[in-house]
Amino acid sequence: MNPRSPTGPLAGLLLAAGLGLAAVGSADDGIVVPAGGALTRALDNREAFTRPAPNLTPQELRDFNFGNRIFNTNWAVAPGSVDAFDGLGPLFNRVSCSGCHLRDGRGRPPVEGEDELLSMLVRVSVPGVDEHGGPRPHPTYGDQISDRGIPGVPAEARVRIAWREVPGTYPDGTPYSLRAPDVHLEDFAYGDPGTLLISPRVAPAMPGMGLLEAIPEADILAREDPDDRDGDGISGRANRVWNPVSGRIEPGRFGWKANAATVLAQSAAAAHGDMGLSSRIFPDENCGAGQDACAAAMRGDAPDLRDAHLDKLVFYMQVLAVPARRSGDAGKNARGEQLFARIGCAACHVPLQRTSEDAVPHHVAGQAFMPYTDLLLHDMGEGLADGRPDFAASGSEWRTAPLWGLGLVPTTNGHSFYLHDGRARSLEEAILWHGGESAAAQQRFQQLSGEERAALLSFLESL
Ligand code: HEC
Ligand code: HEC
Repeated sequence: MNPRSPTGPLAGLLLAAGLGLAAVGSADDGIVVPAGGALTRALDNREAFTRPAPNLTPQELRDFNFGNRIFNTNWAVAPGSVDAFDGLGPLFNRVSCSGCHLRDGRGRPPVEGEDELLSMLVRVSVPGVDEHGGPRPHPTYGDQISDRGIPGVPAEARVRIAWREVPGTYPDGTPYSLRAPDVHLEDFAYGDPGTLLISPRVAPAMPGMGLLEAIPEADILAREDPDDRDGDGISGRANRVWNPVSGRIEPGRFGWKANAATVLAQSAAAAHGDMGLSSRIFPDENCGAGQDACAAAMRGDAPDLRDAHLDKLVFYMQVLAVPARRSGDAGKNARGEQLFARIGCAACHVPLQRTSEDAVPHHVAGQAFMPYTDLLLHDMGEGLADGRPDFAASGSEWRTAPLWGLGLVPTTNGHSFYLHDGRARSLEEAILWHGGESAAAQQRFQQLSGEERAALLSFLESL
């Protein structure tokens, strides 16, 4: 563990800050820090993830609102009645960004009675790597299953998820049960794909993207410990991914395996892969080999997503307000926060980060904020593995998930499904799934008393 990680002196300060000021976090210099720095707003209703940062000018607010409109627009098949918003597909997953990121929030797996994916997707690839060291797309099915198509273009396949219960018992005798997904791809429309590596992923929440993007590269890399030199069992390393915008390999920050370098790269890829929208970054439609109906389908004006619109969409996500911590039972949360540091959660879920002074947009520059992530990849063990490498991330490595806003998911999205595929039905289940590098922390969690576990969960719910 490196000297800046917060299990040392910071742990005490986190406790100290929690005692009096539960609505904020704390920095290593003892200064209290709101969850999203200057982008923080006190929000705890259904719209908590959808609000603009407090410090936008009227013109910026107009840009934000336009970005918001693009994020929520239901794109139409070309030619549509509004030229700026047509060009959907031919193959796609959802007709809008908000279809998956509902109210800028988190997606979930299908629940009982639903037979389609509403706010998640399944990445696929074949063994090997592409020319940039990324997942090697299947020649026909590409790197993601499009489970919808415009009229005349058959969806690639249908995804069905079956669940297996995995029972366990705490050392104090309290029983629990986890559920593991079995993902089935059925009704392939373009022939048997042969061997496919598959990775089901739910849509993450949007607030705070601009801040995570503005953490200096050097700060992320300084926390790497690939050979576990400090012997704490935790060996984080940054993903290194191809950024199609800069044409360079850069540290990955976004996505469950940190497989995208910037908000722009991720958003253009989402527009292309999830909705079939071309842009200056991905100028072609996403039809695979042998998908003739896709290739023959009507096109919108190229690019479907205009340059200025893509930029406003990105600005919108960069300056979404981050909800402030809620105070709740301050004493209990402070106790939970202390336990969080003591049992080793904060070794990966690093509470405090800072952005560079010259970051753009300027709203995110020079901020201290509390995302609870190191943005590094960690081996999380066989239980969570998808077996599908993603650039430098192995089949069992995942990016430390930021924990801010977690407690608001039930309010904003009406569910409490966590982890990359939404398998955890509660925060407690999410912790119990931690294995690999996080197995020791998971075991220390199990050894806590029922009351201590409740305090830790209460702290997470306050984020
Ligand atoms: C079919 C569902 C779906 C749609 C539609 C969708 N997304 Fe996503 N989004 C996801 C998933 C799943 C991830 C995680 C991807 C991964 O781990 O590889 C994600 C990740 C992201 C991230 C990174 C979040 C993070 O915490 O790292 C951003 C930013 C994003 N999407 C923006 C967009 C934008 C902009 C659009 C519309 C152009 C969009 N998404 C449409 C499912 C979707
Ligand atoms: C070795 C690094 C590491 C340690 C230690 C660790 N975590 Fe995590 N945590 C992760 C990673 C990586 C993920 C994402 C895993 C996934 O989605 O499959 C995650 C996910 C989570 C989630 C779900 C977040 C979401 O968005 O769905 C919660 C809650 C969580 N961790 C809490 C904890 C707590 C509490 C502890 C201490 C008991 C802890 N973690 C220790 C790396 C770690």
